Amino acid sequence: PRPILLTRHGESRDNVRGRIGGDTVLSDAGEIYAKKLANFVEKRLKSERTASIWTSTLQRTILTASPIAAFPKIQWRALDEINAGVCDGMTYEEIKKNMPEEYEARKKDKLRYRYPRGESYLDVIQRLEPVIIELERQRAPVVVISHQAVLRALYAYFADRPLKEIPHIEMPLHTIIEIQMGVTGVQEKRYKLMD
Ligand code: F6P
Repeated sequence: PRPILLTRHGESRDNVRGRIGGDTVLSDAGEIYAKKLANFVEKRLKSERTASIWTSTLQRTILTASPIAAFPKIQWRALDEINAGVCDGMTYEEIKKNMPEEYEARKKDKLRYRYPRGESYLDVIQRLEPVIIELERQRAPVVVISHQAVLRALYAYFADRPLKEIPHIEMPLHTIIEIQMGVTGVQEKRYKLMD
């Protein structure tokens, strides 16, 4: 069985400020995670002849992958974070205060709620289809470095979790979820590299 490793990018400057979306670089803690992740990946996959590192097109995932030297990297736009449209760059507090109807609508139905000029979780799930097809087709291990909403959807696919749970799945920073697809089904391990 070949592993698929799923992880969010290292903590970004926007994560520290509580801002959603954006395209910032990593915080100091995020940079430390990038180094730890590279160590982990190079040890975990050292006996593999090939593997690939998949990131989104956003800086925070590309920077998280950058210390990994052993394997080739591919950028996928389909791995970019959920597009928060007019709310991009805001904090949840700001959305609640300035756009209370939007805030409530999302709270009511987070799966179907679409940000004005942005995306819903259902939109994200749909755009991930080609990524999932390609992941299924790969014979070598893949490390996917992406974002909270996207990884919730990817993880739910492999762990066979129901659609309605997807927006609420816990997806902490600085943690690797290893998925093994074997004949007996899917096995999962978690590695928390930092607090
Ligand atoms: O806060 C980090 C982040 O990746 C945002 O960029 C994104 O909008 C959010 O998480 C997605 O999580 P939720 O759907 O719970 O708002």
